[in-house]
Amino acid sequence: MKKSIVFAAIAYSFFLYACGGAADKTSANESPKEETSSSSGSANATDNPSYDPERGTGKFTTVDIPVKLDAAMAANGEKVFDVKCSSCHKITDEKLVGPGWKGVTKRHKPEWILNFITNPDEMIDKDPKAQAMLEICMVRMPNQNLTDVDARALYEFMRKNDDVK
Ligand code: HEC
Repeated sequence: MKKSIVFAAIAYSFFLYACGGAADKTSANESPKEETSSSSGSANATDNPSYDPERGTGKFTTVDIPVKLDAAMAANGEKVFDVKCSSCHKITDEKLVGPGWKGVTKRHKPEWILNFITNPDEMIDKDPKAQAMLEICMVRMPNQNLTDVDARALYEFMRKNDDVK
């Protein structure tokens, strides 16, 4: 009984931030703490056990992110953002076409973000978090044909936006 309430709360908070973007640090990002694996449709793993929801799917397996911000790289990322992303994303927590970016680096691992932005089609097909966003946004994020360098620079810009110094 209690457990299902906890689960409902987690599921609900997941929905809340998915596109509305309220940047909180709910645990929706982590797997629920129950040790029993739930059959109750936590989007994680049930239908696709080999999928790693932390990393997503794509060419980035591990990304080394230094603690300190690379300001020059972030500035390059901002330029790419202006051209390729700002029509659908705000850097606040407000939704435009897609979710606002505030807090995005706290919601996902760097590997997930880099894979998502370079490989959105496959991610939207396979990833529970991407699918939940799609249900709310009703638009599939199109592939923006980013180079790896641009993708990494965008991630640095997102970190800057999330107050990494
Ligand atoms: C045509 C609109 C559109 C454009 C352009 C676009 N996106 Fe998106 N983006 C979306 C939508 C919609 C989603 C939510 C997932 C979905 O429904 O596909 C999303 C989701 C995301 C997410 C996950 C957000 C979260 O809160 O978890 C990231 C990161 C992202 N986009 C990055 C980018 C980057 C980087 C660019 C530019 C290179 C970009 N997007 C360009 C529409 C867009």
